[in-house]
Amino acid sequence: MRIKVIHGPNLNLLGLREPDIYGSVTLDDVNSHLLEEGKKLNVEVITTQSNSEGEIVDSLHESRTKEDGIVINAGALTHYSISIRDAISAIALPCVEVHLSNIHARETFRHRSVIASVCLGQISGFSVNSYVLGLVAIVHHLGEVACE
Ligand code: DQA
Repeated sequence: MRIKVIHGPNLNLLGLREPDIYGSVTLDDVNSHLLEEGKKLNVEVITTQSNSEGEIVDSLHESRTKEDGIVINAGALTHYSISIRDAISAIALPCVEVHLSNIHARETFRHRSVIASVCLGQISGFSVNSYVLGLVAIVHHLGEVACE
């Protein structure tokens, strides 16, 4: 089983960026954590980050035939990118939306996610554990589908 974890814009600056909101954990820390969790869950985890909407759309398209599921933190694109929403819908892979911060407890413009309706679910507000929970959720989902 292969799961791709996609980090969107500005997440390359984790650890430096607004540490009061996002904490001191770096993107490398998040990724190593995910690789470790992947080993425990017996799944291959691939991680990628981009600041560009088009690159994220391309990455989702590439996953269509290569991966079994997606965990995505689309950053600010969560709130307005219809092309990312359409790409998730087009590839028809199970996808879990994650956020480090609780987007519903922040500014009103962050409360809306245009990708939520094409994802299995959303995990928001648990810092790096949001990603881990997202990974566990998708692995469980794929396991259940395989048993049907
Ligand atoms: C974020 C929340 C978004 O609103 C913000 O634009 C981000 C990070 C999070 O992980 O909490 O870049 O997705």
